[in-house]
Amino acid sequence: MTSVEPEARSVERERIRVEPVRTSEELELVYAIRSEVFDREQHLTTWVRDYPEDGRSLNVLAWIDGEAVGTGRVSLWGDEAQVAWVAVRRPYRGRGVGRAIMEHLIRWAEEHGARVATLNAQTHALEFYRKLGFRPIGRPFYMAHIEHQLMERELQPRAQGGTA
Ligand SMILES: CC(C)(COP(=O)(O)OP(=O)(O)OC[C@H]1O[C@@H](n2cnc3c(N)ncnc32)[C@H](O)[C@@H]1OP(=O)(O)O)[C@@H](O)C(=O)NCCC(=O)NCCS
Repeated sequence: MTSVEPEARSVERERIRVEPVRTSEELELVYAIRSEVFDREQHLTTWVRDYPEDGRSLNVLAWIDGEAVGTGRVSLWGDEAQVAWVAVRRPYRGRGVGRAIMEHLIRWAEEHGARVATLNAQTHALEFYRKLGFRPIGRPFYMAHIEHQLMERELQPRAQGGTA
């Protein structure tokens, strides 16, 4: 059983697709995942939609075999990329979906000139973000009833297409 796990994980990862949200129907899927995770699962907030930043940010959906399984958002403020609303539906966690979402957001931010990425991590997810190169800044704080930690990561801005 243990011997087949690494291969099984890599096969799974190839099935994960992360795409920018392009239609209002896809944006509704983003809101549905936010609602499932941040409202019904975590009771963090009941208000998950129509934030002013949603219209001026990159929102993405992660897909496995035609099913939307995760989401995330990045907003540019000058040369800072603020990452928020990263969520993977519970049955799909631990398969690399969160990492794929983050890598897409970071790549997009670098291609759009960002020099630093920031986010407010729920502290249970610190290790997830650490593995993606983020480091904690300052003290943890509470948002609703959930402990959070400001984190940041330096980026390497580059032209679209991936060349420096
Ligand atoms: C945090 C979250 C987005 C992670 O998504 P995921 O798809 O399970 O993460 P991945 O499978 O891509 O994990 C990537 C790596 O981080 C690690 N990791 C993921 N979640 C972790 C956790 N809670 N604690 C420690 N390590 C974690 C994985 O083991 C994996 O390590 P590896 O690359 O060495 O194998 C997901 O658990 C989630 O949606 N949680 C609820 C919502 C939430 O808290 N969002 C964050 C708001 S700040």
